[in-house]
Amino acid sequence: MMQEFDAPFWSWYIIVLTVVSLVGVALFLLSQRTRRLAPGEKAQQMEHKWDGDLVELNNPLPSWWVKLFWITLIFSAVYLVLYPGLGSFKGALNWTSFGEYDKEIEKAKAKYDPIFNQFMGQPVEQVAASAEARDMGQRLFLTYCAQCHGSDAAGATGFPNLTDKDWLYGGDAETIKASIANGRAGMMPALGAALGPDGARQVANYVLSLSGSNHDAGLAAAGKPLFEANCAACHMPDGTGMAAMGAPNLTDKTWLYGGSEGAIMEAINKGRVGNMPAQLQALGDAKIHLLAAYVWGLGGGMAAPAPEPAAEAAAPASEEAPAAAETPAAQ
Ligand code: HEC
Ligand code: HEC
Repeated sequence: MMQEFDAPFWSWYIIVLTVVSLVGVALFLLSQRTRRLAPGEKAQQMEHKWDGDLVELNNPLPSWWVKLFWITLIFSAVYLVLYPGLGSFKGALNWTSFGEYDKEIEKAKAKYDPIFNQFMGQPVEQVAASAEARDMGQRLFLTYCAQCHGSDAAGATGFPNLTDKDWLYGGDAETIKASIANGRAGMMPALGAALGPDGARQVANYVLSLSGSNHDAGLAAAGKPLFEANCAACHMPDGTGMAAMGAPNLTDKTWLYGGSEGAIMEAINKGRVGNMPAQLQALGDAKIHLLAAYVWGLGGGMAAPAPEPAAEAAAPASEEAPAAAETPAAQ
């Protein structure tokens, strides 16, 4: 549809129509300019009469009105030379609404980037202590995250609560930041076919027993070996989960999808695929830093894990070696 109107024929159609009507209006105005009232001359009454006493006089058009009309005509001519409007002619200024948008984004960036960036140099834990940063983080959260995690960040079925210490992937600053920047995809395979309906019910009862929830002890005992064979690889043999893949801890009473026998059976039968969309592209480093600080400060933030001594020993041999060599202090 739109391409049809970009075709040269329609462009010229619009150009000719516009120019002809502008010129036509100008000629009409010129034609009305000829009669002037001589000083002292009175306007004559014309033939018509309406409603008994409404008469028409042959006064010339008032000059303020004619001038206004000329001004609008000249304005439209100048406008059509400078801005797009005449068919597909782009206008002498090359103005586009996309360009205008880009310019406004640039302006907003120039204004707000320094405000967002001022916190980039500080560690997340320190940013979280600043009331100003928390306010900014909260506004960002309400705009970009609340539709899934709730405006109080307490989550909903399938959307994790971000205010408690129960983390799927980890609650230290760096892990939270990585969750936000790169997104997360929890992958629990459907195991219903492998286990069969009886097996699924037995494992589900074993899962319930892990958190001391109501369960059938007989079914749970039968489920234990099934759990070890089918589930322990991800949820660990003791059921405490694995942060590296986001496999939830099944021994607490915090549930992402619900802790009823039915909800657990559904996880087993159909699998679960939670998806957290990556934000880095859309938001950029500075906003993600503020969001990480906001989330970290909601109550569940944890200290960074102690660096592993083995990793430090291996560092010089790793890709980071050249970077370390650049800092004189490293020698
Ligand atoms: C489209 C819905 C959606 C949006 C929008 C969203 N999230 Fe998430 N988020 C999820 C889901 C679902 C998960 C859990 C992923 C999983 O099950 O593996 C998650 C996980 C997380 C985690 C990891 C939690 C944990 O326990 O380890 C963090 C942190 C997080 N989101 C923060 C944010 C922030 C901050 C924003 C806003 C920039 C945001 N999310 C926007 C759906 C969303
Ligand atoms: C390949 C790894 C993997 C295996 C095997 C696996 N799970 Fe999961 N499980 C996960 C992941 C990852 C999630 C989180 C899914 C999400 O974030 O959407 C999950 C979620 C769950 C949940 C939902 C927990 C909640 O908080 O609501 C239950 C229940 C569960 N698994 C039970 C089991 C049982 C029982 C088995 C064995 C029959 C099993 N899982 C096998 C990875 C696995």
